[in-house]
Amino acid sequence: MYRDRLPLFPDTVALRPGQNGSPSLHVGGCDLNRLAAEWSTPLYIYDLQTIDSAVQAYQDALSRHYPGPAGITYAGKASLNLAMARLMAAHGLLLDCTGVGEMHIARAAGVPPAQLLMHGVNKSQADLQAGLAHAGTLVVDNPPELERIAQLASARGSAPALWLRVRPGYAVDTHHFRQTGQHDSKFGMDADQCVDAIAFCQRNDLPVTGLHFHQGSHFHAAEQVLPALDMVCELMGRLQRQLNWWPQVLSPGGGWGVVYHEADLPHRPVEEYVATVAAALAEKLSPYALPLPRLQVEPGRSLVARAGIAIYRVGTVKRAGGRRWLLLDGGMADNIRPALYRARYSALPVTDPLSRAPISENAWLAGPYCESGDLLIEDLPLPEIKSGELLAVPVSGAYQLMMASNYNGALRPAVVMLRDACAQLAQRRETVEDLLLRDIV
Ligand code: LLP
Repeated sequence: MYRDRLPLFPDTVALRPGQNGSPSLHVGGCDLNRLAAEWSTPLYIYDLQTIDSAVQAYQDALSRHYPGPAGITYAGKASLNLAMARLMAAHGLLLDCTGVGEMHIARAAGVPPAQLLMHGVNKSQADLQAGLAHAGTLVVDNPPELERIAQLASARGSAPALWLRVRPGYAVDTHHFRQTGQHDSKFGMDADQCVDAIAFCQRNDLPVTGLHFHQGSHFHAAEQVLPALDMVCELMGRLQRQLNWWPQVLSPGGGWGVVYHEADLPHRPVEEYVATVAAALAEKLSPYALPLPRLQVEPGRSLVARAGIAIYRVGTVKRAGGRRWLLLDGGMADNIRPALYRARYSALPVTDPLSRAPISENAWLAGPYCESGDLLIEDLPLPEIKSGELLAVPVSGAYQLMMASNYNGALRPAVVMLRDACAQLAQRRETVEDLLLRDIV
């Protein structure tokens, strides 16, 4: 009955007999029941093989469809810790860090400077200093920031490669909180500002090598990138004519969406997006007798979301006013996305997930926090679920823990990485002592 939810889970999902003999969800060769018993709940797990395949899908699509050089930057804001930074670096990806905080994590993971890139819309002096000292590439958001970079670079006697963030004037179709490319967005520079910025870099001997744009996050129609690509290719022509400048790198940002709920399946292949961008770029630039820039895609969610699962334990089961409530041990503190964007998730019980008889009453899954907005999943068909059972929420690998909070004294969950039937703790659960770390006693 609930079989249509399985494709939401990582590639390695399987049903195998668990401890008491009933079928139990396994991922990465590990029994989710055992993981929850070992590390408690809420627990976030990542199937690394699913991330490997997602990286491979981008690499294959780029090499199949783009006639020039190409690369991938992982947008670390989707999910970042030492293990994730090391995994992405081992795949040869650049790692996009927003500001000094993420840069600190990436450096602690040992990511080499050449693979570090810094983004940020209102970079602090500390951000810029970290970017200049440690990143191979710094993406410049605005003209005053460029002037500050010039000053810091002249004091240091060196600068990383600079890319300009273009504001193309076109956003993708997504929740308005996630749109960034529109003409009145807070991100990036318009065409005239970009021309002035390149001229400024030329006058000041700054190594500006690329153009970047990002229209928004979690979109599903590849052709929505085309108007922005048009705008940027036109800008390239203008920069070539007026300043004899041509980018070595062009990054169309990230944003390719994923599927969170079975109603939206099947998954849209990344190849659809990459092929559209690659073909349009190669075609629009063909009139120029100049080398194709390196096409540097910058995904976050589509590399990691489906690899992640959040496992919760059901506490109280309650009926109120005709509604069946399953109250979980996690919710808005580890996943604010339903409250913030009305994001719609699905779930399966970890034990015997597929063969139980359905019941007519749908379930409302909520967390333990003191507000009614702490609602994880509304109106989901589920069989009878008892207190103490485990529920697995798929597609939980992106932008959940990164936006987690300590609301109501919540402790951020542990993170476990799975590969080849081995489970490794990547981040321990927060403790109550952690809640006092910043207080002055
Ligand atoms: N590049 C830049 C400059 C970005 O700002 C972002 C995401 C990405 C790449 C990666 O986008 P992705 O491929 O992951 O869609 N908290 C929201 C998402 C905000 C995305 C912010 N920027 C959510 O939970 O849906």
